[in-house]
Amino acid sequence: MSNRFAVILAAGKGTRMKSRLYKVLHPVCGKPMIRHIVDQIRSVGFDKIVVVVSAEAEAVRAELGDDVEYAVQEEQLGTAHAARQASKHLKDLEGTTVILYGDTPLITGETIGRLLEKHEQTGAACTVLTATAPDPKGYGRVIRDGNGALKRIVEEKDASPEERAIAEINTGIYCFDNKKLFTALEQVDNDNAQQEYYLPDAITVLQHAGEFVDAYNAAAFEETLGVNDRVALAKAEALMRKRINEKLMYSGVTIVDPDHTYISAEAEIEADTVILPGTIISGRTVIGEGSVIGPHAEIVNARIGRRSRIRQSVVSDSVIGDDVQIGPFAHIRPQSEIRHGVKVGNFVEIKKSVIGEDSKASHLSYVGDAEIGKGVNLGCGMITVNYDGKHKHLTKIEDGAFIGCNVNLVAPVTVGKGAFVAAGSTITDDVPANALAIARSRQTNKENYAEKLNHKKS
Ligand code: UD1
Ligand code: CA
Repeated sequence: MSNRFAVILAAGKGTRMKSRLYKVLHPVCGKPMIRHIVDQIRSVGFDKIVVVVSAEAEAVRAELGDDVEYAVQEEQLGTAHAARQASKHLKDLEGTTVILYGDTPLITGETIGRLLEKHEQTGAACTVLTATAPDPKGYGRVIRDGNGALKRIVEEKDASPEERAIAEINTGIYCFDNKKLFTALEQVDNDNAQQEYYLPDAITVLQHAGEFVDAYNAAAFEETLGVNDRVALAKAEALMRKRINEKLMYSGVTIVDPDHTYISAEAEIEADTVILPGTIISGRTVIGEGSVIGPHAEIVNARIGRRSRIRQSVVSDSVIGDDVQIGPFAHIRPQSEIRHGVKVGNFVEIKKSVIGEDSKASHLSYVGDAEIGKGVNLGCGMITVNYDGKHKHLTKIEDGAFIGCNVNLVAPVTVGKGAFVAAGSTITDDVPANALAIARSRQTNKENYAEKLNHKKS
């Protein structure tokens, strides 16, 4: 299995996407298209991966880093011209080169492996992977002779009406004898409707040189979907979503309605967790065993423990422990840590705070920049007043404290262990451990005052 090289063409302008974002960086299920392809080819094993990019591809380099080598195509003159840019990296090497296009995010390592196997068996100079498309519009068509052997590939724009009726398409994935590839690329011209150097024409060049070329119809069309515009992007997303959800279900995760559950390609979910409809799990989220998420929860880059329950809520960039209950309608903002057994109820917002084990914020609270100890009760409507207009300040509530309803804690402030704060208090000074703090004016009742007021009204 040695001397295998891969070249990914990703320098195209992506005009049809009508986007400022570099085409191959458009995400499919949260992961850039090019990253999907690189991850799949890594699973096959190549000695070198060369990505051909345009001069303005800093963002691609930032995404892929040193995982791959780069070749630059200064001017976008076509796919054969793009492939030729890899010659500096590969030209003199003995071996097999797989060329792929950076806009086919669904291709699997398994299919690439099968193409390589077939290519190495027949000893062809080139084997092109083909598929049968339900709607071949936009793809290059595969023309075979009377015996079924590959004759040539014709682009949609150069094809006759009869050729356009052919359903077998060029997937844009090829295996080449490496040295023969670069020799052939020198001879490809741009005498066609788009005046571009077409990579499929390298096949014709090889044939003219008496080489055997082959077409292998072995790919499910869905795997080779080329994303040229946003309609195709949505199709790719739907296919990838299905693939991700099915993989999770086979590994023991219950997804009640897979068509309405959106899970990132980078998420990890353990067995016996249940994902309810309308839930979006994005980024590098990790969810432990036996949790129940949703309906309609949005979980972004979070780490969630076991047996936790998160309903109709948003959790971002935070860590949630085991046996935690969140929601409905809670918002856990970045850098929060919600520990074992905590309950966060409806209309509670938590930001950059630690909530200690078995504490409760059951209703209508804002907890920002706070360290809450264990077994603390935050009454309904408790607010940390963390911002003075310029700076954020810390609120500390120590273990076992009980904060009554509708309390303002004006930070920086500490409520000591086991202390009580009376409902309606605005706390500006520290509360010692085990004390009761009351910070509100006393109630006065004016007997029979109602009569006076009623009199005023009339
Ligand atoms: C190409 C194939 C077509 C095939 C289809 C499969 C050619 C001429 N046509 O058409 O037969 O059915 O893919 O999806 O190859 N690129 C460069 N530099 C360039 C031009 C393109 O790097 O100068 C890259 C693009 O970034 C893209 C890939 O090559 O990732 C394919 O180019 P694209 O313009 O999308 O080709 P298609 O029209 O889809
Ligand atoms: Ca394409």
